[in-house]
Amino acid sequence: GREWTEVGSLAEGLEGRTVLVRGRAQTVRAVSKKMAFLIVREKGFTVQCVLSVSPDVVSLGMVKFTTGLSRESYVDVEGTVSVPNSPIKGASQQVEIQVRKVYCISKAVPALPINIEDAARSELEIDKALQAGEQLVRVNQDTRLNFRVLDLRTPSNQGIFRVQCQVENIFRQFLLSEGFVGIHTPKLIAGSSEGGSAVFRLDYKGQPACLAQSPQLHKQMAICGDFGRVFEVGPVFRAEDSFTHRHLCEFTGLDVEMEIKEHYSEVMDIVDRLFVELFDRLNERCQKELEAIGKQYPFEPLKYLRKTLRLTFQEGVQLLKEAGIEIDPLGDLNTESERKLGQLVLEKYGTEFYILHHYPLAVRPFYTMPCSDDPTYSNSFDVFIRGEEIISGAQRVHLPDFLATRAEACGIDVKTISTYVDSFRYGAPPHGGFGVGLERVVMLFCALNNIRKTSLFPRDPLRIAP
Ligand code: 4AD
Repeated sequence: GREWTEVGSLAEGLEGRTVLVRGRAQTVRAVSKKMAFLIVREKGFTVQCVLSVSPDVVSLGMVKFTTGLSRESYVDVEGTVSVPNSPIKGASQQVEIQVRKVYCISKAVPALPINIEDAARSELEIDKALQAGEQLVRVNQDTRLNFRVLDLRTPSNQGIFRVQCQVENIFRQFLLSEGFVGIHTPKLIAGSSEGGSAVFRLDYKGQPACLAQSPQLHKQMAICGDFGRVFEVGPVFRAEDSFTHRHLCEFTGLDVEMEIKEHYSEVMDIVDRLFVELFDRLNERCQKELEAIGKQYPFEPLKYLRKTLRLTFQEGVQLLKEAGIEIDPLGDLNTESERKLGQLVLEKYGTEFYILHHYPLAVRPFYTMPCSDDPTYSNSFDVFIRGEEIISGAQRVHLPDFLATRAEACGIDVKTISTYVDSFRYGAPPHGGFGVGLERVVMLFCALNNIRKTSLFPRDPLRIAP
C-alpha cells in the first residue's frame, strides 16, 4: 500500500516504503531525456525526487511532463523512499523518492514575481552567490509583502508563524493553569482607550466611535464583573504615523488583568513566571522552526535568568549615567536609550530579558496608579527583550473620583469614558495587568530586525493590502 506522508517526516526509517507526497514543484532539473530531479517542497521542507526512465514504470513522456512543470505548481508524487550514498544538497530531507508517478493538481503561472529559493537565502549566502557571479535577485521587503503568499512559503516564514502560534498557545495554557479566564472585549468602542489621538475613527450608526487601541478599559471592567483574573488575545488598532521597525497599525495584543492582594509586584511575578515558561517551552518545542529561522536570519538564543531581573527606573537611569548617557530622570526612555540600557544590563547581569519598574507617573497613561509614598512615581513597569519594549503594565487606579481627576489631568474628556469610570462606583478591588505585543515577542525572541517579518499580513501607515 501507499501512504500519504509529509515531506518533513521523510527519513531513513522509511527506506523501501512506497509513499505519496503532496507539495510544490520547487525546481526541476533535467539531467537527460531519461532522467530528471524534482525538488518537492511542503511546509518549508524539501525532498529530492528522482525520475529515471524504466520499462513499464517511468516513461520518457513522464520525464518530459515533469521537466515541463512550472515552479510552484502543486504536485502529487508517488514513489519509493531510498537513501542515497552521498549527502543531498538543495533539499532539507536526507532521503530521496524514486518516482513512479507524478500528477500535477494545480499549475502555477510560469513567471513568478518572487523566486522562493532566492527569497529563502540569508544575506551571507546572497553576498557569496553574487561574488561567485551567480544571477539572483535580492528580494526586497516591499516585494515580499506585495506577494506575501509566495514569501510565506520560505522555510524561515514557515518557522516564524509556527513559533508565533506556540507563543499564543503557551501564553494561554500558562494563564489558564493560573486561574485566569479568557475573555473577548469589544473592538468597536466609543472613545480612545489609551488617551492620545492615535485612533482609527469611524461612524457607528451616526455616533462617533473608534477601533480599540487596547482592551484596557474593558479588561478592567471585567475585573469589576468579578472574574478575578482575565486574559485576552485579540487585535489592537493604532493609527499613529510610526514608520519604524517595530510599530504596526494593527497588531495582536496579549493582555492580562488581575486582582492585586497587596502589591503590584504580584503582576510582575506573573510576567516573570509566564515568560520563563514561554522561553523554556519555545526552545524545547520549536527546535526545527527556530533552526529554519536562524538559517536565513542567524541569531543567538535569548539569554534569560531563572528569576527575572527587576530594576527600578531610577536604577536604569543610574546605569545609563555611569555609561555617560544622561537622560531625564522623570522622562521616558527612547529607542536608543532602551537599546543602550539593554546592553548595559546584559554586561552587568547576563540577561537579555528584564523588568524595569517604578516609572515616573508623568510618562504613563491616565489609569496608572501613582506610588503611595511618592506620587512622582507610579506602580508601573515595562519589560524588555534584547533592549526593546515588549510589555507595559501597571497597577490601575480603582477609585472612581481619583480616576476621573487623573483623566482630566491627562487632557481626556471624562464624558467619553464615563461608563468606564462609573464601573468603579459599585465597588472594585485593587488590580493591575499588562499588555504584550505578540509580533514583538516573536521578532525579539528571534532577533529579527523588523516587525513586518512577524505579522502575517502587516498593516502599517502605508499598507492595507494584501
Ligand atoms: O505599551 P502599550 O501601548 O500598552 C497598552 O496598550 C496598555 N493597555 C497595556 C497595559 O495593560 N497596561 O502596548 C502594549 C504592548 C507594547 O509593549 C508593545 O509590545 C506592543 O503592545 N505595541 C505594539 N506592537 C506593534 N505595533 C505597535 N504600534 C505597538 N504599540 C504597542
